[in-house]
Amino acid sequence: RILILDFGSQYTQLIARRVREAGVYCELHPWDMAAAAIRDFAPSGIILSGGHQSVHVSETPRAEPVVFDLGVPVLGICYGMQTMAEQLGGSVAAALEREYGYAQVRARGHSRLLRDIEDHTTPEGYGLLDVWMSHGDRVETLPPGFSVIAETANAPLAGIADESRGFYGVQFHPEVTHTPQGRRIIARFCHEICGCGNLWTPSNIIDDAVTAVREQVGGDHVLLGLSGGVDSSVVGALLHRAIGEQLTCVFVDNGLLRLGESDQVMATFARHMGVRVIRVDAEARFLERLKGVKDPEAKRKLIGNTFIEVFDAEAGKLQGVKWLAQGTIYPDVIESAGAKTGKAKVIKSHHNVGGLPEQMNLGLVEPLRELFKDEVRKLGLELGLPAEMVQRHPFPGPGLGVRILGEVQKDYADTLRRADHIFIEELRAAGLYDRVSQAFAVFLPVRSVGVVGDNRQYAHVIALRAVETVDFMTARWANLSYDFLDHVSRRIANEVEGVSRVVYDITGKPPGTIEWE
Ligand code: XMP
Repeated sequence: RILILDFGSQYTQLIARRVREAGVYCELHPWDMAAAAIRDFAPSGIILSGGHQSVHVSETPRAEPVVFDLGVPVLGICYGMQTMAEQLGGSVAAALEREYGYAQVRARGHSRLLRDIEDHTTPEGYGLLDVWMSHGDRVETLPPGFSVIAETANAPLAGIADESRGFYGVQFHPEVTHTPQGRRIIARFCHEICGCGNLWTPSNIIDDAVTAVREQVGGDHVLLGLSGGVDSSVVGALLHRAIGEQLTCVFVDNGLLRLGESDQVMATFARHMGVRVIRVDAEARFLERLKGVKDPEAKRKLIGNTFIEVFDAEAGKLQGVKWLAQGTIYPDVIESAGAKTGKAKVIKSHHNVGGLPEQMNLGLVEPLRELFKDEVRKLGLELGLPAEMVQRHPFPGPGLGVRILGEVQKDYADTLRRADHIFIEELRAAGLYDRVSQAFAVFLPVRSVGVVGDNRQYAHVIALRAVETVDFMTARWANLSYDFLDHVSRRIANEVEGVSRVVYDITGKPPGTIEWE
């Protein structure tokens, strides 16, 4: 297993994902992880991430000396390389020019890290790599025992190595997709240099998780709130495999789900897999509560609180439950760890289901705690969940409650569900669904004039939203073709009663958010 020490780069999570993609288990910890904890982790190799600070300023982060004394290979990336160089006796200084963006790196010699990995070859036979750079400092003098393995015009020491100790440093970022050979470089480090096998595969992860869950809960009963989303679905399938009848799921239908979603959850889990699922039809209760409420944040709170109430009441009826399962995934864990040290945002509130664990003295079962979203999806497929469920776009906890602007009403929700379904169905049919990150329809409770046959119509407006994004923090509206939008618009206007007009949202984030509320 590989230990990644985070020096604060925005790309650190990507390093972890690339290592996992290479089939190697890794964990990400802050750069100041205690020496004893590093030893206890017993890594096969260590990766030092990039960071935004300057090594030549004192009081900036340094690696624990134990990192270089454990006798395991170390890969320093950007800041990680600079601190390694400085700590081992080299020097770092501000470069004359900052390098930011694409660069070409020329490989030198035959290092184990870069050998035969290249995008182009020079006429003289040198390997050239296209890489992503983002740095203002550079290594000026090599530490003893090191040699140069890569250079650019601006950074003569763009890659350094002490092959005898297995220490490597690269100034560029192999973890980002803009470095096309980056995956191979990281896989090379993990497999050939650290000697890690390709063992972190979906079926091994499932086997390990099944064993761990069985050990954790023994013969006790476990409760899971199923939402229809990817994470809770995968937890459900995994726990069912691990403990079968000891699992009870509660699925709250709040009336704000997508068309057919509630039935699909029941079909997949209850009928197809034989999981015990209690479906609570709480549509009326949610709509009653939402009556007259227009403010988006008020609606969010109300929907969240009502969910907790309904879920708690249902759970209270069950006898002998000792554990509550949750779909917490690794980015949530990293975020909440960061929140404690003041480095990142707080954990998503929907992961703390109710006051249940404390009130009922329930232990927590979180079998996805170590996994990234793409790994969770692969596990879901391996566990036999339908691809359509596993690859689904994200859907907000408050559901259609924040896609019906202003007051939520049942007929609005029904209209929106049908329009949304047509949009999604057409995206899938055109092969566009997986090319956009999130797509949905929004209900605007304003009326606009239209004409149906010979009659004047005065009805509501549907807005379509489709975005492309990597992290959902910023997004671009998806450039769907006019022909496609025309087709969707005609279908919605023809097939969904109560809609007189369809519009397409061409606002990016920022300044817009992805959802309309
Ligand atoms: P915004 O609208 O903030 O959305 O650009 C970013 C991502 O978050 C989702 N989202 C939510 N998810 N509860 C959730 O669980 C919420 O209240 C909520 N609001 C937005 C949104 O769908 C998008 O993927």
